[in-house]
Amino acid sequence: MQVLGLETSCDETGVALFDTRRGLLAQALHSQVRLHAAYGGVVPEIASRDHVRCLLPLVRKVLEEADVRRADAIAYTAGPGLVGALMVAGGLANGLGLAWACPVIPVHHMEGHLLAPMLEHDPPDFPFLALLVSGGHTMLVLCKALGDYQVLGTTQDDAVGEAFDKCAKLLGLGYPGGAVLAELAETGNPSAYAFPRPMLSRPGLDFSFSGLKTAVMLQVRQAGDAGLLDLAAADIAASFQSAAVDTLVARTLKAAAQVDAKRIVVAGGVGANLLLRKQLAARFDGRVFYPRLEYCTDNGAMIAIAGALRASDAVEASEIRALARWSIESLRPPLAA
Ligand code: KG4
Ligand code: ZN
Repeated sequence: MQVLGLETSCDETGVALFDTRRGLLAQALHSQVRLHAAYGGVVPEIASRDHVRCLLPLVRKVLEEADVRRADAIAYTAGPGLVGALMVAGGLANGLGLAWACPVIPVHHMEGHLLAPMLEHDPPDFPFLALLVSGGHTMLVLCKALGDYQVLGTTQDDAVGEAFDKCAKLLGLGYPGGAVLAELAETGNPSAYAFPRPMLSRPGLDFSFSGLKTAVMLQVRQAGDAGLLDLAAADIAASFQSAAVDTLVARTLKAAAQVDAKRIVVAGGVGANLLLRKQLAARFDGRVFYPRLEYCTDNGAMIAIAGALRASDAVEASEIRALARWSIESLRPPLAA
């Protein structure tokens, strides 16, 4: 069975074709990052317009590359995300579903992220603990089986990717600057500034990053006033990254101990962070699974494989599902499971 995956929930247009026997046949990705950079954040209307422009050409490219004329099913991200942007993939998925007389499968974006490691040769078995860390989410999820998810902790304010992006912006590194900040941090001293690790002394498994962001803001202002920001930037980046990663790792290890996890999956854009990978590998007494770097950020391949695993949930092309909010805990195992 060949499943076409379409992703347009935010600022990347992703398309991929996944074959349940042969694996990923082709994929294409278009990032809108440059379009939104001038505004310092994603502008929903600009995102939708660009998905409209790019999606169909990317589908053509993927089908040509895989040398097929059509797919057996079409999976699309139905939420959570920007509704106007989601509707672009939802509309095309249903249109193609009618044209090809094939089923469509609405996919939860975060389930796509946490199933992305299944694209690798040595995928994790259930159950596992997932740390989902992106620009919009920071979550610890106990994944007991496909579609059986329990959220153990989440952020009370900013997502960790958002904190990386805001600190990068304060340091003049552009938007979204998470990856650039991480690169700059490599050259800085992580102990130069003692930024807070706010939730670590508190019970529970929730996160909070707004206090850390404010502490960075004050430090940037102080360095700027003294005309020393250029000199201090790498140290501030390294100290921020160290505080953010410490917080993620400590919370994840605490959750792993509570549920006796043998495996951890790290997914979402911040999963590309090398310090996070290094620290988890060093401190967790089990196996940590990651998607390869290109599947950490939004892409069509994770939607295609999630769709393939949920093929029994496929419906006839009819209504477009586009949900701004959609709890991952409300998902159920696929009908055939
Ligand atoms: O999963 P993703 O592509 O999009 C969302 O669904 O949000 O994640 C994007 C986020 C951005 O905040 C970006 O700055 C962050 O992931 N990011 C990183 C790194 N690479 C991307 N954050 C820290 N270190 C990185 N190496
Ligand atoms: Zn995402």
